[in-house]
Amino acid sequence: MVIAIYPGSFDPITLGHLDIIERGGMLFERVIVAVLCNTSKKPVFSVEKRVEQIRECTQHLLNVEVDSFTGLTVEYAKLHKAGVLLRGLRVLSDFEKELQMAHTNKTLSEAIETVFLATTTEYSFLSSSTVKEIAQFGGEISHLVPENVARDLYVYYSKPNQ
Ligand code: PNS
Repeated sequence: MVIAIYPGSFDPITLGHLDIIERGGMLFERVIVAVLCNTSKKPVFSVEKRVEQIRECTQHLLNVEVDSFTGLTVEYAKLHKAGVLLRGLRVLSDFEKELQMAHTNKTLSEAIETVFLATTTEYSFLSSSTVKEIAQFGGEISHLVPENVARDLYVYYSKPNQ
């Protein structure tokens, strides 16, 4: 049984992430979506909120779990007996960072493989930061993020000084 970890910031989850989760769920017995508690970035949503958002939009996927973690991804993977780190590749500019991460993780744990899935074409240029920028100016985001996330973003940006 191969368990895959899908690590990320997910601030917030987009339809591009969801596409990777759904396809990962078809390839692996279990997929654990792991939200990084990263104190160096100033997120829009708390880690708890992001976990809740992802749980809500993945509830139809029976082999998908959602969790949060601190520290190294490979250590979290080992703890959960996962053999694979799942990542999506959108455009060429992702490649350098992703390859560097994959190589670094390989030096930290030889047994854990990084598997890349090419993002579905329609989500190739989609990122959490683009979605936040559109939402900030009241633009349409319902075709870019799950419904519950679109609601949360509109609420967030409807408050002053965000
Ligand atoms: O969604 P992101 O921000 O591109 O995800 C990046 C993430 C969380 C996968 C990466 O920053 C990560 O794995 N951080 C945990 C710390 C770690 O393991 N570092 C070593 C690998 S570079």
